[in-house]
Amino acid sequence: MLGVPIQLAAPSGAVSLETNLLLAPIAGWCDLAWRVTVREFGGVGLACTDLLSPQGLLCGSEASVDLARTTAEDRPIGMQLYGSDPRVLADGARWCADHGATVVDINMGCPVDKVCKKDGGSKLMCDPGRAVAIVSGVRAALPAQIPLTAKMRLGWDEPAALRNAAGELACMLAGEGVAMVTVHGRTTEQRFKGSCRHEGIRRVVELVGERFGAWRGVAGPVGEGPIPVVGNGDVRSAEDAVSMMRATGCAGVMIGRGAFGRPWVFREAWAAQRGKRVEALEPSEGEKLDIVLAYFERMREFRSDGYAMHKIRQKISWLGKSINGSHCRALRDGVRGAGTPPEVHAAVEAWRAGGVEHEPVGVRNEPVG
Ligand SMILES: Cc1cc2nc3c(=O)[nH]c(=O)nc-3n(C[C@H](O)[C@H](O)[C@H](O)COP(=O)(O)O)c2cc1C
Repeated sequence: MLGVPIQLAAPSGAVSLETNLLLAPIAGWCDLAWRVTVREFGGVGLACTDLLSPQGLLCGSEASVDLARTTAEDRPIGMQLYGSDPRVLADGARWCADHGATVVDINMGCPVDKVCKKDGGSKLMCDPGRAVAIVSGVRAALPAQIPLTAKMRLGWDEPAALRNAAGELACMLAGEGVAMVTVHGRTTEQRFKGSCRHEGIRRVVELVGERFGAWRGVAGPVGEGPIPVVGNGDVRSAEDAVSMMRATGCAGVMIGRGAFGRPWVFREAWAAQRGKRVEALEPSEGEKLDIVLAYFERMREFRSDGYAMHKIRQKISWLGKSINGSHCRALRDGVRGAGTPPEVHAAVEAWRAGGVEHEPVGVRNEPVG
């Protein structure tokens, strides 16, 4: 349903999101600084932490607790847990509820060996009984006002996708109290190869609609539906978001990599769904540089200078993709070569003062100024 915000049912009441657009969890990217940076542009209905280890949270591991860190401006926030033990996940979910989660999400889509070998992530799609036990245990452990959601793929492999494993699992989980399912339109075996399959997402939407009623923007009682099915995969622009929604009938769209270079894609996608022009919503070149610096400063504030330096050097390539049509090698080289925070600022300001770089990508420019 284009332009209709999502509601997530909880046993007591429902959480109403401002839009139907979600910022995807992307391990290594979607930290607090990035979430706040993306939210600033508007259009984000819900953002999610990277996948969190419940054991890590429960034993107070610094790495896990850092990943789960949130603030008042980072709302509404989904905290995503992975694992395979219903009791540990239930305890982890309670930890999340006590530490600011608006929503708790269970990861059933991660294809990484480290996670699947321990029967978590997308391996849960091969063991629906365990997935159901997890959802039932976590639902029972969570406070009544907190919705529980799940994220999955089309299935482990091609035969699973063909028999609509995701649709079947989504229905089982909805019956156990899941308030929303997000489906990445690839199988686990595909990982990130090939393109996202709209017809696979469509079949999930249809099956959930048949069993729990078609989604019309209003959540039904927990365990009875209707529930929203959110589509995910390869959405890079407002146009992509609208075409995914039209092709699949999904209730909303989750965007991950498409936000790396265009964190304002959510406000564009929200405007496009309501028939508004999106061209005017692209920030100016100067504002794009401000975004780089604001993000960098937030990483310093929320984590440390060392963390911010490491991450900004990694991410400037992605952030630069929308700057001067991606012709900004001097900016990228300047930031990557910076040794201290003031040098990062100096590199950005040098680029700002130097104006436009006309050389084609691949020709090295010295930092200007
Ligand atoms: C590097 C990387 C890390 C990811 N980490 C997570 C994660 O922690 N939890 C999760 O559910 N999905 C994770 N994903 C999957 C994304 O959330 C999303 O489903 C996928 O990237 C497809 O969406 P996109 O094309 O909009 O990026 C990750 C993807 C990538 C590329």
